[in-house]
Parts: sequence; C-alpha cells; structure tokens
Amino acid sequence: MREKRIVEVLRGRMTDRVPIWLMRQAGRYLPEYRALRAQAKDFLDFCYRPALATEATLQPLRRYDLDAAIVFSDILVVPHALGVRVEFREGEGPVLETVTSEADLTRLSVRKVAERLEPVYRTIAAVRTELDQEKALIGFAGSPWTLAVYMLEGRSGVGGLEAKAAAIGKAAFVGRLIEVLVEAVVEHLDRQIVAGAEVVQLFDSWAGVLDAAGFERLVIEPTRAIVQALKRRHPEVPVIGFPRGAGTGCARYAVLTGVDGLSIDSQIRAAWAREHLGEVRALQGNLDNMWLREGGGAMLARADEILGQLGGRPLIFNLGHGVLPETRPEHVTALVEHVHAWRA
Ligand code: CP3
Repeated sequence: MREKRIVEVLRGRMTDRVPIWLMRQAGRYLPEYRALRAQAKDFLDFCYRPALATEATLQPLRRYDLDAAIVFSDILVVPHALGVRVEFREGEGPVLETVTSEADLTRLSVRKVAERLEPVYRTIAAVRTELDQEKALIGFAGSPWTLAVYMLEGRSGVGGLEAKAAAIGKAAFVGRLIEVLVEAVVEHLDRQIVAGAEVVQLFDSWAGVLDAAGFERLVIEPTRAIVQALKRRHPEVPVIGFPRGAGTGCARYAVLTGVDGLSIDSQIRAAWAREHLGEVRALQGNLDNMWLREGGGAMLARADEILGQLGGRPLIFNLGHGVLPETRPEHVTALVEHVHAWRA
C-alpha cells in the first residue's frame, strides 16, 4: 500500500493532488455535530465518550473528501488529566483552576495522564478501524506554552498577558511548569501514536505573545524536547508544529524544533513563506478562516493565491486557524473540490 498523501507530503514528497484537512473540521458549523453534542452532559464528557468522539471525528469525513481525520478531543484534556479543574461554559469558553505556585505544581500528577486519557486512545483506535485506508489520522496536543497560558490565567480572556508577566517575573516557576507539561504532552502523544495516530500536531495558539527570548525558551526549546522524545520512540511518525502568531519567528521555530511540517497562520503571506521557508520539509495552511465563512469566488481566489505560491512544493492545504461556527458547510465542499482539482 502506498503511503497516505498527508504522510507523503510530510516526508517532503509531492503527491497526485494537494491534500487538505481543516483545523476544527468537526464543530458547531455542522448540524450533525450539534445534534451529537446535545447527547453529552458537557463538552469534556463529549470528549471522553469514545462512541460520541469517534462519530464526531468521522462526521466531516462523511461529508467531504478530506485527506485526514483529526481525533475529536481538546488541548485542555492534558491539564485536566494532570488534575486541574477544567470547565467549558456555554458561550464563555474554558475556565480552569489556576496553577500559580510551587504548591499547585506539586499537586499535578504526570503519572496519571495516560490512564485518565484512555478514552482518547480508545477513540483513536475506533476511528482507525472505520477510516478509509487512504486517509490519515491525526493526533494532537497543545504545546506546553499554550497549556501554561490557560493554567496560569484560568481562562484566555486576558490574552496571554498575565502568563507573559509570569514568564518574566516568575521565570523559574514557569520553567518548572513547562517541564511538567513537556513530560505530559510526550506521554499523551506517544499513547495516541500507539493507538493509531499516524501524524501528530502541536497547537501553540499563544506562541505570538512572547518576545524573541521568551519564544526561544518557552516555545522553541520545549517543542524541540517533545519532537526529540517522540522521534526516539516513533521515528517514522511526522510531527506538525503550529506556532500561531509567531510571525517571522516561525522560520527559526521550524528549523530548531525539527518538526516535519510547519503550519502557518493567515498573517504570513504565502509569497513570504515561499521565499523564507524553503528549508522546511512541508508547509501547511494558510487560508484565513473568514474567507471560508464568506465562500464563493473570493474564497477560491484566495485559495489559488496560496496554491500558486506554495502548491509547487510539499503543501497540506488548511486554514490559518479553525473553522468558524458561522461557516456554511457547502463552502467546505467547494474548497475541498477546488484544492483537489488544482495542478501545479
Ligand atoms: O476538529 C478538530 O480540529 C479537532 C478537535 C479540536 C477541538 N479543539 C475541539 C473543540 C482541536 C484540535 C482543538 C484545539 C484547541 N482547543 C486549541 C488550539 C487551536 C486554536 O483554536 O487555537 C485551543 C486553544 C483549544 C481550547 C478551546 N477549546 C477553546 C478556547 C474553546 C472554546 C472556544 C470555542 O470555539 O468554543 C474550546 C472548545 C472546543 N474545542 C470546541 C470544539 C469543537 C467547541 C465546543 C462546543 O461544541 O461548544
């Protein structure tokens, strides 16, 4: 059997068509997702029920000819499994118990992470048996810095500023928190791979708030440690890194962390990426999610610009950030068909 297109691209090879998947391809913009979600007590319960999570993972694949499924879960299951109280409130987003002192840190238990996240691995195993052989299954985790932002702030409302202040004012403490998170993330990704994930992605949604030195220490270094640990255990499994908001820092991130694929957000011009990210084995991105929400010829024209700049080299088409809840499902159909019909 030939390798899946997304895996091929992450090995730096071209395939017969540009593969595509979308961050948050499962979500509230799909009526069948909303119906399924109504069966769960709350969002975490939804994530931890393999029958429901498996169905949510597969829903977008039933509608669209996407090249990958991403396991239905959330980045905040890792802090939750470490013992932090996490709640998803309707219309408010996640609210966490904060971790701000050494005493809080000693209460976190890395040992229990894999055991507590067993439902995620069961979901992966179930999806892999149902998923078409041509399609890749992506596992994921939040990067230590982004998880630390939620744990330090308790919610994302303060936008990373309080976490950034802690990174400077309580540097040793934040360093230890990051160490714990590196360990937990490696464990969680390792178990996802063992269960059947063929690619893993690290989401660093808050990578953009730090200064250059902080970015090096709290984003690049921990990510490199995670990539190295995973490569030792699973040398054949590609890793995609997504340092959202990192700007030109994404070039250094890609080279120093050793990720196979770099996911770029929509602030990065495709022409700039073509010129400055030539050393990166594979790129992923970078259509702004608002164009997908808009749809029509305008969306396709933006997609063509990305394909024209980056489609001649290994590219996984994706968004710069997740699908917005207001997006009409037909727009996704049109985008997937358009990307697949495109030729270099
Ligand atoms: O389809 C997929 O992409 C897989 C599932 C997935 C979810 N969250 C499901 C989800 C993935 C990969 C994530 C990643 C995630 N979660 C990130 C990184 C990417 C990013 O968006 O920057 C972050 C920061 C989170 C944390 C998180 N989860 C927030 C801030 C929120 C609330 C905002 C919102 O959109 O509701 C969530 C909830 C969440 N995670 C939903 C989904 C489908 C919506 C929950 C619902 O059904 O109400």
